[in-house]
Amino acid sequence: MIKTVRKAVFPAAGLGTRFLPATKASPKEMLPIVDKPLIQYAVEEAERCNIKEFIMITGKSKRTIEDHFDYAWELEENLKSKGKQAMLEEIRRLAQHQFAYIRQGVPLGLGHAILCSKPFVKEEPFAVILSDDIIDPEDNLLEKMLNIYDKYHATILALERVPKAEIHRYGIIAGEEIKKNVFKITDMVEKPKPSSAPSDIAIIGRYILTPDIFSFLEQTQPGKGGEIQLTDALKSLLNKKPVYGYLFEGKRYDAGDKLGYLKATVEFALKNQAVKDEFREYLLSVIISKLNKES
Ligand code: G1P
Repeated sequence: MIKTVRKAVFPAAGLGTRFLPATKASPKEMLPIVDKPLIQYAVEEAERCNIKEFIMITGKSKRTIEDHFDYAWELEENLKSKGKQAMLEEIRRLAQHQFAYIRQGVPLGLGHAILCSKPFVKEEPFAVILSDDIIDPEDNLLEKMLNIYDKYHATILALERVPKAEIHRYGIIAGEEIKKNVFKITDMVEKPKPSSAPSDIAIIGRYILTPDIFSFLEQTQPGKGGEIQLTDALKSLLNKKPVYGYLFEGKRYDAGDKLGYLKATVEFALKNQAVKDEFREYLLSVIISKLNKES
């Protein structure tokens, strides 16, 4: 029987060293963009796709993630007494979902983090969402991938063309475009040098995986950076089963990087009903005053 995707895994055990000292004692996944933490954007993306179970892979110093998605009685009472109904409903909505938390314990890489989810995923296809990669909600990337999954019932990776200088930061694929923006993947390599990369098409932080990935992950030896790499397990899977990719052409922000984080903040603020008009004016005034100083 073909199963639909009801579960999503959120790897969130990384140390967040690119954001130190902000991430010394609190998780990078809780860094806010305007008024929501990164991890909430990821959860809401899955929520919009009818995902029902949210599996977080966490580690040391990550407990605030659990609190964030839990009920908060005192706060709820306070909002209720002040008549702040809309905010109360938003806070409650998230807490009503089913969350599971697994501690990765040792930082052995993305592949190992996914393997930790095996007891909760069981024999079902599942989505993986890397919350560092913020996708503009209007682009519906995960929904598009799920539509492709419904057709092929196979592994689907999100892909994006990246500049040559950024190739070393991603898993890079080789593949054949079988229809517009859909690739049948023939090879992949984790963080290659640009000179040996099979293309300029990178894997970005959205995956639809099938449960057969777990047996490949169990056999995957440490690879790039001494970590168990999801890309290496997917490459082994590729020899046995088809793997497809969807070339995303919408907006993605690498919020795990300072510049990407700032870009996401500006773009999301410009769309936020409460602040967009004043923020736009402020940005223009900053630009004009900089230009005046330079001329
Ligand atoms: C991970 C994956 C890599 C992928 C990237 C997307 O790398 O290992 O293949 O291209 O996510 O963001 P990380 O960013 O965790 O180093």
